[in-house]
Amino acid sequence: MAMHEEALPIIDYFGLEKVSSNFYPIEIYTNKNESLILSLNGKSEEYKVDNIGSQAATLNTFVVINNFKPNIVINCGTAGCFSSKKAKIGDVYIAQDKVIYHDRRISIPGGYSEYGMGSYKVIDSYDISKKFGLKQGLISTGDSFDLSDEDMRIMTDNNVDIKEMEAAAVAWVCSLHNTDFTAIKAVTDFVDLPETTSELFLKNMELAAGNLRNKIVDIIEYLL
Ligand code: ADE
Repeated sequence: MAMHEEALPIIDYFGLEKVSSNFYPIEIYTNKNESLILSLNGKSEEYKVDNIGSQAATLNTFVVINNFKPNIVINCGTAGCFSSKKAKIGDVYIAQDKVIYHDRRISIPGGYSEYGMGSYKVIDSYDISKKFGLKQGLISTGDSFDLSDEDMRIMTDNNVDIKEMEAAAVAWVCSLHNTDFTAIKAVTDFVDLPETTSELFLKNMELAAGNLRNKIVDIIEYLL
């Protein structure tokens, strides 16, 4: 996970304890028998903010898989959605079909365009979505919180439901290790409305983090 506000309600619920580690900035929390690992990207020492985005997500996933060999990795957090797709603030989505990138434009012939967009495997989420009342959606990752016209075109052309900043990076590392992957994202803002995304994000963070926690708790208790 990336942001402390998103993770703290889950750490509290499961009574997870911080494991002391030298794993770069990464903060790892576990339950007693280590059947549940919650791993945060940690803070940027330089800028005093949470590390977010695909770079930090890649490192975090690599460290967790190498040290704990999990059966499944679930990337959770908040995300933007499209009002045109009847999504609502506070909705919780689970990844469907694949995750992609919307901001890696590499127009060099020979496969680089396709490589840039990527297409990373996720587990079949139909049963979980029905059992726990999640929406299923196509998740797309980029390293910017706002979006360019070209990002929007790529997301529209690919029928994307959810825009966020980590899932494809986590999924890539999972694919290298043959580890099952899914992403669960709670909506804080609309990316296709004129309101300022960052204001909506801050206003709705608590609601989304609460909804995310409720769904994650149910799903993890079922999986453990
Ligand atoms: N996280 C929450 N809202 C987001 C957005 N609009 N884009 C990327 N990441 C987000």
